[in-house]
Amino acid sequence: MQTIRVNLGPRSYDIVVVNGNAGIAPFTGKRLPKVAKAFVVSDANTAAHAARISGLLSNAGIAVLASALPAGENTKRLEMAARLYDELAAWPADRQTLVVAVGGGVIGDLAGFVAATYNRGLALMMVPTTLLAMVDSSVGGKVGINLPAGKNLVGAFHQPAVVWIDTRVLETLPDREYRSGLGEVVKYGVIMDADFFAWMEANVSAVLKRDPTAIEHIVARSCRLKADVVEKDEREETGLRMILNYGHTFAHAFEAIGGYGAWLHGEAVAAGMVCASRLAEKRGLIGSDLTQRQIRLLQAFDLPIDAKPHWPTNELLASMYRDKKTQAGNLRFVLPTKLGEVKAFDDVPESQVIEALTSR
Ligand code: GLY
Repeated sequence: MQTIRVNLGPRSYDIVVVNGNAGIAPFTGKRLPKVAKAFVVSDANTAAHAARISGLLSNAGIAVLASALPAGENTKRLEMAARLYDELAAWPADRQTLVVAVGGGVIGDLAGFVAATYNRGLALMMVPTTLLAMVDSSVGGKVGINLPAGKNLVGAFHQPAVVWIDTRVLETLPDREYRSGLGEVVKYGVIMDADFFAWMEANVSAVLKRDPTAIEHIVARSCRLKADVVEKDEREETGLRMILNYGHTFAHAFEAIGGYGAWLHGEAVAAGMVCASRLAEKRGLIGSDLTQRQIRLLQAFDLPIDAKPHWPTNELLASMYRDKKTQAGNLRFVLPTKLGEVKAFDDVPESQVIEALTSR
């Protein structure tokens, strides 16, 4: 078991990395002694896992109400939040009710948003079930839902009371989803931790074999690195959180133009990082060796390194301008300055972006 403390004053919490969820009820009882009711939210893919957690909590005397929603990005919408509010109200939930989000990013963001807003805030336990959710969306406090007009347009900052990561659930995660999560893991190495990047280079086969020790290391290290950023910029005010967006300006365009689902998020981030790295080369920030190291590692994880050739460059570019992270009409890119360090730039000429998108 590893515990990663996220220090945020009164909103501090622990990310617990375990192998097997047997200890979840005693842990909840110890950390959240006032909790007598738990609202366990899952989706069709995680309902069985959620049922086991519900059983453990209910054996420990916690009253459980379970809600399983359809799987997929389309669940992250207001109507589903309303359905959860209604279920909480009919039960009824009280101020001490714990919301337990068992799933990937969609369930974490939606149930987290419901926890942030119902009764002006309920305690939230994140139980991420994908590698991507473990290393990214379950940590940091940003929760929200999509509107037809755009993704994550309605949301809040609501830090979890605890993040419970049972790495054993990764044993059955589909291969493509596992590799997609590795895209975000590689990102942490590039932006913050050269040693971690080198460790991944040296341990590709253990990571791909899902060796439990290797998994525990990549999950715990990624969470620690994300926590370091969140501790310094909890509400995205100082600009530091932006470094987490390395590769994401390109990635969001790939997701939008490819159609959501054509690429999983981590796949889009992988190709986005290579484009950002090429852009950094063109600006003279780094040599080609750093891009090549990323390409080799991402390819070893069987992740894409280029935009698909049939995606029109002008449409990708237009999509980047529509992204809500655009600053006053300028595209903003997080670019590496050396392995383990990135900086944000918003003075990148379009011609260089096009070159980065089209060079191979
Ligand atoms: N919930 C993800 C984040 O705050 O970054």
